[in-house]
Amino acid sequence: MRLIVATKNKKKLQEIKDILKGLKLQISSLADYPRAPRIVENGKTFKENAAKKAVKTAAVMNALVLGEDSGLSIDALGGAPGVYSARFSGKAKSDLQNNLKVLRLLEGKPLPKRKAHYVCAVALADKDGLIGVVEGKCYGRIAFAQKGSHGFGYDPLFLIPGYGKTFGQLGEAIKHKMSHRFRALSKAQKIIQKYIEKQRAS
Ligand code: IMP
Repeated sequence: MRLIVATKNKKKLQEIKDILKGLKLQISSLADYPRAPRIVENGKTFKENAAKKAVKTAAVMNALVLGEDSGLSIDALGGAPGVYSARFSGKAKSDLQNNLKVLRLLEGKPLPKRKAHYVCAVALADKDGLIGVVEGKCYGRIAFAQKGSHGFGYDPLFLIPGYGKTFGQLGEAIKHKMSHRFRALSKAQKIIQKYIEKQRAS
């Protein structure tokens, strides 16, 4: 079965492919469909944005579509950057500028005041509409400096206390067993499996 991931973010797509590899789906992304509709991410929650991406894309594609929306929530910043994670430092999306802004805003705060979590919402839809939306979270701390070059986005700052290292240092093998994306996709996998069984039976 085909699964279209409603994203153009290559790193996210690779993570999703890695985590869902057991399902043996033919996975592609919007990078393969340049004429797919551009979706404005104006929802107030990750779930709202994920559902919008999945439903709007599925309406014009004859396939099962996965919409994903994710971001970072920092306790000391009242949950910011939240749904604005990609463009926290301004319109031009820059991981480096976003990370530097986070470090600036948390300057002087000791580790216990640097609690944060990632959130990932995953929605599934087909041409008949929304099938389901699930969410996964991953808890950590914001490091005092960027460390490591694995992953993307805020990973060089996202410290996993049990390891004393950032996702940027830990690499994919560990990240993909505990990340917000892994947790959301584990739930989504069950929805996909049921969907496949239903399609086969009809
Ligand atoms: P989206 O494409 O609007 O969902 O943007 C999500 C943004 O949240 C990304 O650009 C990153 O800044 C951040 N983000 C989401 N997931 C991760 C992750 O796994 N690692 C690091 N940053 C992430």
